[in-house]
Amino acid sequence: MSDARPSEAPSLPAALEAIGETFPARFRAASSEALLREEKAKLLGKKGDLTAALKIMGSLPPADRKAAGELVNGLKAAIEKAFDERLGAIEAEALAKELAGPAYDLTLPSRAPAPRGHKHPIGIVRDEIVDIFRSLGFAVHDGPEVELEEYNFTKLGFPPDHPATDMQDSFWTTGGHLLRTHTSNVQIRAMLGKQPPFAFVAPGTVYRRDDEDATHLPQFNQLEGFLVDKRVSFAHLRGVLAEFAERLYGPGTTIRLRPSYFPFVEPGAEVDVRCVFCKGKGCPTCKGTGFIEILGCGLIHPVVFEHCGIDPQEWTGFAFGMGLERIALLRYGIEDIRLLVENDPRFLSQFR
Ligand code: PHE
Repeated sequence: MSDARPSEAPSLPAALEAIGETFPARFRAASSEALLREEKAKLLGKKGDLTAALKIMGSLPPADRKAAGELVNGLKAAIEKAFDERLGAIEAEALAKELAGPAYDLTLPSRAPAPRGHKHPIGIVRDEIVDIFRSLGFAVHDGPEVELEEYNFTKLGFPPDHPATDMQDSFWTTGGHLLRTHTSNVQIRAMLGKQPPFAFVAPGTVYRRDDEDATHLPQFNQLEGFLVDKRVSFAHLRGVLAEFAERLYGPGTTIRLRPSYFPFVEPGAEVDVRCVFCKGKGCPTCKGTGFIEILGCGLIHPVVFEHCGIDPQEWTGFAFGMGLERIALLRYGIEDIRLLVENDPRFLSQFR
């Protein structure tokens, strides 16, 4: 047998015995979890006592290694067990101390300032538009988003084979119901069983089977305007919309009407505002035309009055409908409509 090891080096059993005798006291002395873990590392860690003892093992004659290995494993298991017990005791002590101490009031408000909510850009624009029409004498109405085909289409004069009534264009539920495709259903609901005069706006959510892209969403918001009285003319409609455009986009904002078709108005028109970005000079947003379309409108078709039990000889009126997303995009220079529904706080916080 080689005698290369210095004779004063401790034998393995002696080293293990020394560890075995001291570790329980060392664990007991550790008064916190951190100190306990430190103590464990001093035993089992890379530079720990047991690890150092293991290194001696390599120098043992092969015949002795098995017994030595068993000793080491036994000691290691004892250390782990003692560690777990001591940790349990430390945790129980800490809990007991906490429970005996002053109680926490979980209902106290945090000292950190709580972030305050704020309106969504669609809500800002909607409230502003509603306020404008309120100040012009219009009331505010509401209507259901799940609507009868009759109120969304039929009574508004849509023929049964109109493309909008197609399964591909609207979200149909059951029993002749669909998700309303526009806020014009509120016109019908307002008139049924009631007699004019009427003057109201109705903001709300509408649904169409569009694939979403930078300018389309299958769910979006409109605001309907509706006025019925004696001898209402197209000039009244134009006057109200011109006033609205100036109040929304600032003095001097001009509008332009182009003939258009909607089944429930006659005549019908689309309304453009002078481009708010280039002031009419022509830019990419208005595609060089100097104008941007913001709504559809017209004088109420006599057949709609008839469908609702109102005499078209006696009453006249106008209606208009605008897309709120569109107006918000223009107002804030937002390039992609999807930003309005993604709810990314980095985007929304800009409207605080
Ligand atoms: N409801 C029409 C649309 O969604 C807009 C509109 C409303 C047109 C009122 C004329 C009158 O496109």
